[in-house]
Amino acid sequence: MEIKLAATSPIEAKVGLVALPLFEDDLGKRARHPLLASLDEALGGHLNSAIQAECFEGKEGQKLVFPTHGKIAAAYAVLVGLGKRDAYKHEAFRMAAGTVAKEARRLRSAKIALALPEEVDAVEAVRAGAEGLFLGAYRFDKWKTGEGKQKDFRITHASLHHESLRRHAAAQQALTLGLAIGEAVSLARDLVNEPAAVMTPTALAKAAADMGKAAGLQVVVHDRRKIEQLKMGMFLAVAKGSQEPPKLIEIRYVPKGASASTAAPLAFVGKAITFDSGGLSLKPADAMVDMKTDMAGAAAVIGAMKVIGEVIKPDFPVYGFIGACENMPSGSSYRPGDVLVSRLGKTVEITNTDAEGRLVLGDVLAYACETKPRGVVDIATLTGACIVALGHYTVGTFGADEEFVGRVLEAAKASGEDLWRMPLVPELKKELDSDVADMKNSGTRWGGAISAAHFLKEFVGETPWVHLDIAGPSTSDKERGYFSKGGTGVAVRTLVELVRGYGK
Ligand code: BES
Ligand code: MN
Ligand code: ZN
Repeated sequence: MEIKLAATSPIEAKVGLVALPLFEDDLGKRARHPLLASLDEALGGHLNSAIQAECFEGKEGQKLVFPTHGKIAAAYAVLVGLGKRDAYKHEAFRMAAGTVAKEARRLRSAKIALALPEEVDAVEAVRAGAEGLFLGAYRFDKWKTGEGKQKDFRITHASLHHESLRRHAAAQQALTLGLAIGEAVSLARDLVNEPAAVMTPTALAKAAADMGKAAGLQVVVHDRRKIEQLKMGMFLAVAKGSQEPPKLIEIRYVPKGASASTAAPLAFVGKAITFDSGGLSLKPADAMVDMKTDMAGAAAVIGAMKVIGEVIKPDFPVYGFIGACENMPSGSSYRPGDVLVSRLGKTVEITNTDAEGRLVLGDVLAYACETKPRGVVDIATLTGACIVALGHYTVGTFGADEEFVGRVLEAAKASGEDLWRMPLVPELKKELDSDVADMKNSGTRWGGAISAAHFLKEFVGETPWVHLDIAGPSTSDKERGYFSKGGTGVAVRTLVELVRGYGK
């Protein structure tokens, strides 16, 4: 989809669909929205009647579709609600833009004109609008055939309209960033949505390498032998039960210039269990259906690195590390009761082979910390307990370094993603006490997301560290704003924003 900026009125645009985002007070009797007024006039006053008849109040998530019957160039006018003006966040416009793209798709309008909200920071709104339009148009339909295949229809052009956008370099930059993020989040979604039989550790490594090549990044893929040399005993144990060989993937952004390239890096670590059957502690059927998505953390790292290499290009290195393998039951699987020796030397008694993510991450986190990063963020679909705690819209955020946790939360706020800090309750660390080894890999159900975070913390030493448990928001079970069913690409935006927060 090509998106451009325009300072003209969207009502005059030669498009199939024109859309206005409206606040609740744009619709009251007193307040009149200038574009809404001229659109209503062009449509002979019938738009206002429809607003009344359909009780469109500009509430968040509301929409009104109005066929224009040839009175203006666009065949449809669409109104989308932004909610209360005082409570406005750009996320509301991002969601509204996503809804507009979905309506355009449904109505087969290949060209869209979308107005920016009035009286908000137009530059940030451009970015949110571009992301929302791009992601709202996202579909994963490559496995559909016949009638189910809507691939033939694409939204080809969109324009974002606001008077202030005439010769506006900052807005153009925001558009470039928004489009790059749209593409990166779409890539992350594709990787998550692909079946596990296709998106194997080997295929994921290739996807990372292909991305890296296009984005000017170095990508190194280590195979089992190297992982053995690195003494990643926990990672290897998880991988043992599968026919698919494990891959340790390193993605490096290295800035040009001697001082920049030797500055302290920022490190990301992504969980990539390409299928989590639970291993010998086998999951019940219902819990296993979605487990192709257990590599969403890695998908977020790949997406974020793409934007970092293509547009952010900070003056310090950024490294992405991904531990990729399958967790399968077989005669060669690791067992409950086994004791594993980690790269750090700490020993772990296995009490549940379904607590596999923390094992892979523990070894890869320790490895990442050897690069002496200014901070390391791990992103993982780690626990069902985090979904119980926070639901499907919120990322569980853990960490003990206040400064670094603060940076990540700030980044999330700027990106529009919903992160919520969780406590590392000291008592819950005792859940992992073992009689035979240094610790167990799983505790009780209670506070399961927290004991999992405690486990990871054992492998980062003094490095500032944040753990993002994305088990809930990594997938969506419904179409909603710019979200489609399946992978969401969550955390890409926060990671990109975290890098931007360090300045150029
Ligand atoms: N990949 C799962 C967590 C998960 C569950 C992600 C649902 C997305 C949706 C993880 O490996 C797992 O199985 N965790 C266990 C841990 C337990 C055995 C201590 C869980 O949450 O039940
Ligand atoms: Mn598991
Ligand atoms: Zn898992």
